[in-house]
Amino acid sequence: MNISYNDERKDLPIEQLHKLFVSVGWSPDDGPFPEELKAGFMQSWRHSTLVISTWDDDKLVGAVRVLSDTIFRSIIYDLLVLPEYQGKGIGKELVCRCKEHFPSSEWLVGCDRKNSGFYKKLGFQDTLESGVFLVIPCKLF
Ligand SMILES: CC(C)(COP(=O)(O)OP(=O)(O)OC[C@H]1O[C@@H](n2cnc3c(N)ncnc32)[C@H](O)[C@@H]1OP(=O)(O)O)[C@@H](O)C(=O)NCCC(=O)NCCS
Repeated sequence: MNISYNDERKDLPIEQLHKLFVSVGWSPDDGPFPEELKAGFMQSWRHSTLVISTWDDDKLVGAVRVLSDTIFRSIIYDLLVLPEYQGKGIGKELVCRCKEHFPSSEWLVGCDRKNSGFYKKLGFQDTLESGVFLVIPCKLF
């Protein structure tokens, strides 16, 4: 393995990024990425404040994106690591690198219960202690 991280590139290769989403079960595994979804998908990454990607040579093996005002509030979206690369510290490194970019910021993340332990190891706390997080779901998925 020849692992490297990139925090300058937001236009990740769409097919590799799609494979990453399929590999963790976030996109259906039913053929090529539908053309009509590609533009919206990439818009979300290009318009994020920060994108950090993990590479094994030229293979995309992990990624995360952050929306942030760069000083007070930041939120993590779409942290994902290719299954065969999980458990090697890549997810932790991606989150740590995000925090280093905006060190004074509050950090939020939405996750399912099975991943809350991962974030708690990195310093995240349940919001129930400080209030609740309310949501209006996205209309596109
Ligand atoms: C969740 C995910 C990003 C973790 O990435 P990873 O590279 O496998 O995790 P790491 O190897 O960096 O693990 C760091 C630490 O967290 C622990 N950890 C990993 N996943 C965990 C989980 N689900 N629950 C509790 N602890 C976990 C590891 O054991 C490790 O502990 P250590 O520092 O004491 O050794 C990865 O499993 C993934 O991509 N999952 C599918 C997509 C997903 O659900 N993303 C989360 C979005 S909310």
